[in-house]
This record gives sequence, C-alpha cells and structure tokens, in this order.
Amino acid sequence: MQGSCPKVSIIGAGAVGATLAQRIFESNLADVVLVDILEKVACGKALDLMDGAPIMATERSILGTGDYAAVADSDIVVITAGLARKPGMSREDLISKNAAIVKDVSCQVKRYAPSSIVIVVTNPLDSMAYLVYKTTGFKREKVLGMAGVLDGSRFIALIADDLKVPRASITAMVLGSHGDTMVPVVSKTFVGGEPLTKLMAKDRIESIIKRTCNRGAEIVSCLGTGSAYYSPSAAVFSMVKAILRDTKEIMTVSAYLEGEFGLKDIYIGVPCRIGRAGIEEVLEIDLSDEESSAFHRSAQAIRQSIASHLLC
Ligand code: APR
Repeated sequence: MQGSCPKVSIIGAGAVGATLAQRIFESNLADVVLVDILEKVACGKALDLMDGAPIMATERSILGTGDYAAVADSDIVVITAGLARKPGMSREDLISKNAAIVKDVSCQVKRYAPSSIVIVVTNPLDSMAYLVYKTTGFKREKVLGMAGVLDGSRFIALIADDLKVPRASITAMVLGSHGDTMVPVVSKTFVGGEPLTKLMAKDRIESIIKRTCNRGAEIVSCLGTGSAYYSPSAAVFSMVKAILRDTKEIMTVSAYLEGEFGLKDIYIGVPCRIGRAGIEEVLEIDLSDEESSAFHRSAQAIRQSIASHLLC
C-alpha cells in the first residue's frame, strides 16, 4: 500500500464511474479521485458525495477534477471513460471512438500513476483491456478487465430467480469475451453443491444462458439512453476490494494470456486469483469439449475485433 489510506482513481465520472465512486467512498474503502473530460461534472459529483459523508459515516476523501496529476500515487486506477451503448448497438459498435479515448487515458495513467493496478471497464471490454496493456506497457498482472464477475452475477441471479433458491447457494462462472460469444460454464455451475444439470431441464438452462448473454442489451433497451451501471459498478467494487484487502479470491476477469488455455497475446475472461499484486494466478480449469470450443470461438471473435480495429 502506498500511503496510510489506499487511493483509487476513477477515470470517467459518468454512470458507472460515479456509482463506483459512491460505493468505494461510502464504504470507507479508499480515498477516491474522479477524473472526467467534463471537469465540472466530476467536481459536482465529488462535492455532492462529500456532502453526504457525515450521514454515511465515511472519513475518506473525494476529489473531482479534470487534471490527471491528481491520480498520482493511486493504488488502483479504474477506466470507465468512453461512450456507452444506445438501443440496437452492440459493445463492438463502440470500438473506434472508445479506442481513441482509452488510448489517451492510458498514456495519462502511465505518466502519472506508473505503479498502479488498472481495472478496465470501458467496452468493448477485452479489446480495451488489450489496448491499455499495450499502451501502458505495465506488467500483465497489473492490467485486468471487469466482465466475468458481472456476467457471472447475472447468470446466478437468473438461475436463483428461476429455481427460487438463495443466490448465495449458487456458484457459477462465465468465461470468454464480454460480448455475444461469452461462455456461461454449465459444467462448473452448482446449486447447493448439486450440478445445475440435475436440477434444471436443458432447454431451461439454454434459455437462461441466452438471457444472461443478452442482459446488457435488455437493460440498454429499457433505459433508452445509457447502459447498465449498478451491477457493473458492484462488480468493479468487488474487484477493488479483493485487491486492496489482498483476499486472493478466485474471480473471472479479463486477463492477458501467455499460453494458458492454449492462447497467447489476447485478453479474455478466465478465472484468476486476485490479490494485492493484481492477477496473482491464472487458473487453467478443465472445460468440457463443447465449452472449450465455445471459449476458443470467443477468443477468435476478440482477435478479429482487435485485428480489424486496433492493429490497422
Ligand atoms: N477522458 C475522461 N473522461 C472521458 C473522456 C476522456 N477522454 N471521454 C469521455 N469521458 C467521460 C464522459 O464525459 C462521461 O462522463 O466518460 C464518462 C462516461 O460516462 P457515461 O456516458 O455515463 O457511460 P457509462 O455508463 O459510465 O459507461 C462507461 O463503461 O460499461 C462501460 O459500455 C460502457 O464503455 C462504457 C463505459
């Protein structure tokens, strides 16, 4: 830890960034800096959060700014800057505009917070995490993308709702890209220790998988403008907590692979041990043949996206 109190900087004070700031600040987890190209928006949200601090009983500090110098000495920098989807758009449709923003933000992070751990949230997630990794030149354990924690939570919430069981009784994971090709891993999904396949018919499982994959789009179409932010910010919050508290828990995050799962030079969602160093281990779990093929198809989709938009 680089000071007495940990410091988390959040780039992008929009829906995801500001909600994450609120979660971190109000839980007393860390001091928070909110940076946005719209400086006054970042300032206003930070002042608003500070005004509630006595009520929420937090002693942490919060600052809103447009100046990247304020991110110096951050333990963690979270990148949420960029455009969100509109109804009818896929996450991929955001790539050219968000790549320009994320590249610029990465240069600032490298300059002002070279020893931070970076959590990428901007979509399309796996390509943006790859871009941050390449632009900052940080070690792979220090650049991770948020997706699997969110997609896994969506999968669990839908299963619990269908089976009418407590959410805490379910363990599940969603690997692969944070996109249309994500892979909810049925062989690793258990309800009270029982395999999901013993408790639910195949067509019902397939329908929940489809709903999990489309959940982001379903929310975008309800909201009309903007995309999900309560659950994405909750997912990032859990990752920030795992890092700052060095919990070593297993979380699915988008990680740079160097041969694991037979893949190299790619960011993709895989189970990892998360602790104070960031990604402390990539866990090469066994997948069924069908799941392994779906995972590799997902990797192919990420590679295509990177090749056609980021490498040209
Ligand atoms: N530097 C800093 N902030 C920027 C920059 C930049 N170059 N460009 C845009 N921003 C800011 C915007 O001013 C805005 O406040 O990023 C913020 C994005 O906020 P929202 O539009 O509310 O989007 P949000 O819902 O937070 O989603 C952000 O996360 O989940 C993903 O798909 C989502 O890519 C999107 C990102």
